[in-house]
Amino acid sequence: MMELPANEHKVLSAIEKLGGKAPLDQIVQKSRLPQATAMRSVLTLQKRKLVEILEERLTLIRLNDEGKNYASNGLPERRVLDTLRKKGGEMSVSMISKRAGLRRDVIPIALGWLRRKKWGSINNTKGLVTVSMNERLLGNDERLLKFLLGECQTTLSSLSPELQSAAEVLKKRKLLEIAERTERIVQLTEHGWRRIEEGIEVVQEVTQLTPELIITGDWRKVKLTRFDVTTPGPIVYAARVHPVQQVIQRVKEIFAEMGFTEIRGPIVETAFWNFDALFQPQDHPAREMHDTFYLRYPRAGRLPSRSTVSRVAETHQDGWRTGSRGWQYLWRVDEAKRLILRTHTTATTIRYLAENREPPAKVFSVDRVYRNEKMDYKSLVEFHQIEGIIMDRGVTFRDLIGTLTEFYSKLGLRKVKFWPSYFPYTEPSAQSTVYIPELKKWFELCGMGVFRPEVTEPLGIEHPVLAWGGGLERLIMVKLGLEDIRFLYRNDLGWIRRTPPCQ
Ligand code: PHE
Repeated sequence: MMELPANEHKVLSAIEKLGGKAPLDQIVQKSRLPQATAMRSVLTLQKRKLVEILEERLTLIRLNDEGKNYASNGLPERRVLDTLRKKGGEMSVSMISKRAGLRRDVIPIALGWLRRKKWGSINNTKGLVTVSMNERLLGNDERLLKFLLGECQTTLSSLSPELQSAAEVLKKRKLLEIAERTERIVQLTEHGWRRIEEGIEVVQEVTQLTPELIITGDWRKVKLTRFDVTTPGPIVYAARVHPVQQVIQRVKEIFAEMGFTEIRGPIVETAFWNFDALFQPQDHPAREMHDTFYLRYPRAGRLPSRSTVSRVAETHQDGWRTGSRGWQYLWRVDEAKRLILRTHTTATTIRYLAENREPPAKVFSVDRVYRNEKMDYKSLVEFHQIEGIIMDRGVTFRDLIGTLTEFYSKLGLRKVKFWPSYFPYTEPSAQSTVYIPELKKWFELCGMGVFRPEVTEPLGIEHPVLAWGGGLERLIMVKLGLEDIRFLYRNDLGWIRRTPPCQ
């Protein structure tokens, strides 16, 4: 005799009572076990080869609105027939449409079926319809209509062959709604049947080894449930940090490890700190509306001390004492006062430097910036930039390269190249590109350089400043192998769950 735990036994006898084969949900119901328990038992029975699970494609049929109408009021040919019989067996086509209460466009269909079912004949020249003497019992199509009206919905395969072909006819007459579904059917195997015949002994299984069982020594007697450690369990999604925030945290940690301090600055910034202090001329294309968001209200913000502003102004106009010729145009204070959403975090670092001129300074910022660009797979309107600066006696461009190389390597990016580049506020300027082995591609990540004297001198900064900055989302994209930057902010839970944590 085979031994089975109680739950498995309940499920097995439920299947047996249902004739040895039944859909899963019926078995669950019959067994009177909780859904999950019954399902687990079915899987155990399957493992023991007592049952097998089959997948069946089901065609579900039900009446559509027209079908329901015909099911309750009769098919149009039936109504024509009834009208004819009441009125002596012969009628003109025009009279029929009045008496049978049918829509005009249905009459030809009704007459077509009347003839096809041999319930009547039509004399086209006289325009008369005559009832024939054939039997007019309910046809299979009408029986099926009545049945479906009562049942609401049924599976095609559960119908008798005649009704199945009637369903074909009703389908062609567009009276049915049809849906496909896959259903799991559990079936007793031959082995299962044999075991049931031989008899089954129900055993109580113990799922937990309690201290009492151990102390009393009863663990020797009871039957312990076998666990199949290879069975996939339910997936548990623990709360977790959004991938973007994870990278932000990691980047901040790296900066901290390298001895940097975090600074923050305003999102709504004056053009002065975003552009002018960085020696970006007032007619620079990047300032235009299509790149920069200007505030309508309040329009203007506060500038630093008048002396600072006038030194910046003079530097733009003719270079002031910096040795430069400047940009050779008339600098306007109104333009500098305009409030904008900062377009880069360099606005934040230069603001900080102007107020903290004592060396050394090693600060960073990871924060939001805004650019009025068209959103697409590689650009967002609101995004984050990573920015860092080092200001100290005698630091050089080589230190900058070394610092960035270390920064990237801590992020797991070891192949880095530096290319000459241009920014209005740095000289020399460079662009760093990193190699992403998974994508087999080089990506530009950060702009960098040493602040020009036109930037540092008007603000009274006396030592070299090494600066670099770049988009954070781009970095995340290459790290995660994302094709579309917008994915990061789509709040797609599935994606957030699948994305591995940042190393
Ligand atoms: N601010 C530049 C940008 O937005 C990057 C940069 C920062 C370049 C610092 C040089 C120095 O792309």
